[in-house]
Amino acid sequence: MPVQIALFNHKGGVSKTTTCFNLGWMLAEKGKKVLLVDCDPQCNLTGMTLGFKGEAELKAVYESGGVKNVRDGLAPAFESRPELLKPASCEQVSGQSNMFLLPGHIGLAEYEVTLGIAQELSGSLVTLQNLPGSLRHFFDITASSIGADIVIVDMSPSLGSINQNILMTSDYFLVPMSPDYYSVMATDSLATVLPKWKSWAVKAQANSLLAQASYPFPKSASKFMGTVIQKYRLRQNGEPSAAFQQWIDELNRSVKERLVPVLKAHDMLMDEAAYASCELQAGDPILQMSDFNGLIALSQKHQAPVFALTDEQLEQTGIVLDRTKESMNRFRGLFEKAADRMLELLSHDGN
Ligand SMILES: Nc1ncnc2c1ncn2[C@@H]1O[C@H](COP(=O)(O)OP(=O)(O)O)[C@@H](O)[C@H]1O
Ligand SMILES: [Mg+2]
Repeated sequence: MPVQIALFNHKGGVSKTTTCFNLGWMLAEKGKKVLLVDCDPQCNLTGMTLGFKGEAELKAVYESGGVKNVRDGLAPAFESRPELLKPASCEQVSGQSNMFLLPGHIGLAEYEVTLGIAQELSGSLVTLQNLPGSLRHFFDITASSIGADIVIVDMSPSLGSINQNILMTSDYFLVPMSPDYYSVMATDSLATVLPKWKSWAVKAQANSLLAQASYPFPKSASKFMGTVIQKYRLRQNGEPSAAFQQWIDELNRSVKERLVPVLKAHDMLMDEAAYASCELQAGDPILQMSDFNGLIALSQKHQAPVFALTDEQLEQTGIVLDRTKESMNRFRGLFEKAADRMLELLSHDGN
């Protein structure tokens, strides 16, 4: 069974999508077969991965026949069609033969309300009992059809029913954050919402109607791997500037003091030994990095990760090129370390 890792924070602009792409690519470089799933109706990951410049290109993919995106893949379940869910045909990511994309669809948002009702009723309405288990089932069969080891799910910035479902039916989750006031606030609301979602999942897992559904509700544990802190500005010596460092400290403190104890109480943490094997404690960032500056625009232009742009793609020469390559290699080192940590954490759970 493929392992499913969700990247979640209901705050937008904290680098969820960018991290899915870059971290997914690094895991693929390390030999894992990776499936990226775009579950944000804004489809930023799809646009970024396939290099779309407008809606017309996305529309062309939708209309090219077969199941090509999350919405169309889930439609038989959500629109009560008498057919079973089928694996989507995924897009191979150009330049990385080990990485695939299951594209997003703006219409996924239309299923939010129906799924919300299905989850409230916890299967008591037979017509809705297939819905809570359908997302994970669809991602699993799609991942299995290409032999993927790891599924990385990019999520929308919301606390809606689709996110509740994806997070609670994943095996692990990462929480990307920015070092600012809003991310500290978001930590507090996560500490309130995640236990509610977990209680719902525990009930759904024990529900016999959901267990007998065509797509049984999965018994996923949904454990917190750690945070990803991005986008601070560097000082000359490579350390985060003082103001950012204060927010990073504040963020780490609020994760450790407010979020981690709640997750522990609700059995959403991995074993201490797993974190310790990566020289981490629960709630530590698995990845912390600075502003990508000019590399982000080039990364998007060439649909290549910020750590693997070629000299040609960097569009520079001489000493400027040397400096850019230096910073690119620093990002490579950080992403490598984060991917190694994730693989170590996974291996601890026997994956
Ligand atoms: N480390 C970074 N340095 C500079 N820009 C970044 C970095 N990470 C993300 N961005 C940019 O910030 C914006 C928000 O990132 P995105 O990944 O879309 O966040 P989210 O998915 O959480 O909304 C995007 O324009 C992206 O290109
Ligand atoms: Mg996003």
